[in-house]
Amino acid sequence: MSENQTKTLDLPSVTTVRDLAEKVDSSPIDVIKILMSNGVMANINQQIDFDTAAVVAAELGYEATLEIPEVKEEQVGEVPLWRRVIEDEDPKKLTDRPPVVTILGHVDHGKTTLLDAIRHTNVAGGESGGITQHIGAYQITHKKKPITFLDTPGHAAFTAMRARGAQGADIVVLVVAANDGVMPQTREAIAHARAARVPMIVALNKMDLPDANPDYTKQQLADGGLIPDEWDGDTIIVPVSAKKQTGLDDLLEAILLVADSNEILANPDGTVIGTVIEAEVDKSRGVVATLLVQNGTLRMGDAVAVGMVSGKIRAMFDHLGNQVEEAGPSQPVLILGLGDVPKAGDLFQVCDSEREARAIVNERKARLEEASAAKSMTTLEDFFDRVKAGEAAELRLILKADVQGSLEPIVNSMKEIDQEEIKINILHAEAGNITENDVMLAAASQAIVIGFNVYADSAAKKLAETESVSIRSYDIIYRLTEDVEKALKGMLEPEKRETIIGQAEVLQLFKITKVGTIAGCRVVSGEIRRNANIRVVRDGEVLHDGELASLKHEKDNVKEVREGFECGLRVKGFNDFEEGDTVVAYTIEEVAR
Ligand code: GTP
Ligand code: MG
Repeated sequence: MSENQTKTLDLPSVTTVRDLAEKVDSSPIDVIKILMSNGVMANINQQIDFDTAAVVAAELGYEATLEIPEVKEEQVGEVPLWRRVIEDEDPKKLTDRPPVVTILGHVDHGKTTLLDAIRHTNVAGGESGGITQHIGAYQITHKKKPITFLDTPGHAAFTAMRARGAQGADIVVLVVAANDGVMPQTREAIAHARAARVPMIVALNKMDLPDANPDYTKQQLADGGLIPDEWDGDTIIVPVSAKKQTGLDDLLEAILLVADSNEILANPDGTVIGTVIEAEVDKSRGVVATLLVQNGTLRMGDAVAVGMVSGKIRAMFDHLGNQVEEAGPSQPVLILGLGDVPKAGDLFQVCDSEREARAIVNERKARLEEASAAKSMTTLEDFFDRVKAGEAAELRLILKADVQGSLEPIVNSMKEIDQEEIKINILHAEAGNITENDVMLAAASQAIVIGFNVYADSAAKKLAETESVSIRSYDIIYRLTEDVEKALKGMLEPEKRETIIGQAEVLQLFKITKVGTIAGCRVVSGEIRRNANIRVVRDGEVLHDGELASLKHEKDNVKEVREGFECGLRVKGFNDFEEGDTVVAYTIEEVAR
């Protein structure tokens, strides 16, 4: 697609395949195909991140930009758990702790360079492509007061890290390049800070550049709700140049001022809690994790449960690499001794013993697996794979049957096969054909649709395909219960998929003695094939399911008759046609697992 045809599109940081398809005016199937060609397997309800969505959008001729969530007062986030732990401490035991200052801002506005200037280091110089890709934690002392800094990435892809950075902060320093002004991630950062209810200070950076336009940038900030104090607002704006190292003292003063006017407290002897800043496997040292202690004191030898990982602290280093024995509130430390790599953003806690830590982690894992099993359960085969793996706990079904009377025995027989460990949950049971509504319900609840003597209409089938919902049809109760039972025991045969290949309408009947009834039909869609399976449907009710005995066009026996043409057909073992009946031709294939 040429440049001038490219359309623009706002996308949130996370979107579903369905929503994306709608926004780019394409079918979800096309979106899924593009995702697949890029190595991403996704179903229609799957959430994909902005970067992935942007790639799909680009292939469909759209240039995507990240939508900046507007945080309204009532949407303000929950108080983070670590803050609640501090709030629960005995107030008499709370003491001052260093402020945790998170640096947020648009990509390349100079966050890392500013921190380098404050710390007299050169982290930015060593970054690949000059782009920060993880949160860094540092501590400095200004006027004998320690301040902890978290550096965050400004690239659009790292929304979650910025959100976490704001969640862990006492103060946010919003870095805005004065030559570039308020940009998408600037606005996003403001939203994160507001959601986390953290006070903001603006560092107006790159003031050394000739095209720096501080007044314009201040106006933009004011438009975004950050009114500069010089305009009688309450946002402190400090002009700085990270490169020329000007304005840094003013910025540090401002940080201490804001820190002083907020109570920044913790109990160093209280419950130990904190957050994983980053973690990785180091070739020589094994798993290394940077933790920010937020309450209590973390000590050498402590048994810890860190998100989904347990361990014992074998060594601990401060941000300069010096070995330390303990780390108190607001202190970032690098630790060794975890069994596996924890996720950034996970909380850690200290346990009485390694055994207790393992038990806590195992329980968390079990809960997570339960949740994820419930999430992607879409077919009986999937389900039985999970049963085999010992993961699944509930089989959800939506039952449709020809008549109310056949629902009851099915539901009862389901109750009989219901097992101790695995529950069958019938979400919905109703007489009638399988419709789009049933498929939607199944998609929303990861259920399987089971039809007894009914068929799925074409809209339902189409939706089932895009939604990856499994529809199973049966005409004999014991086969139905057998399959469900097998699924529960993890022994199901490969799924057979039915494809409707054509439909014909019965126009006229010819009764021929000793031969039977020939139905004179017109093929209204697809084609009728001699060797296809045949279903006779009247008013939505399946009267017969079987095979053709003969198929003729004019006087000739034929293999197939296409849409628009007329034909005469006989069905094996069925003669009770009426005018207006529908003859449905379908094929059955085994779907490989
Ligand atoms: P991300 O972490 O990738 O979001 O970028 P960042 O905000 O950390 O920006 P970084 O510190 O990597 O700086 C980006 C570029 O801006 C680098 O080339 C810096 O040298 C330059 N830069 C940073 N601060 C200043 C400044 O005050 N003046 C000038 N002229 N350039 C600066
Ligand atoms: Mg950076």
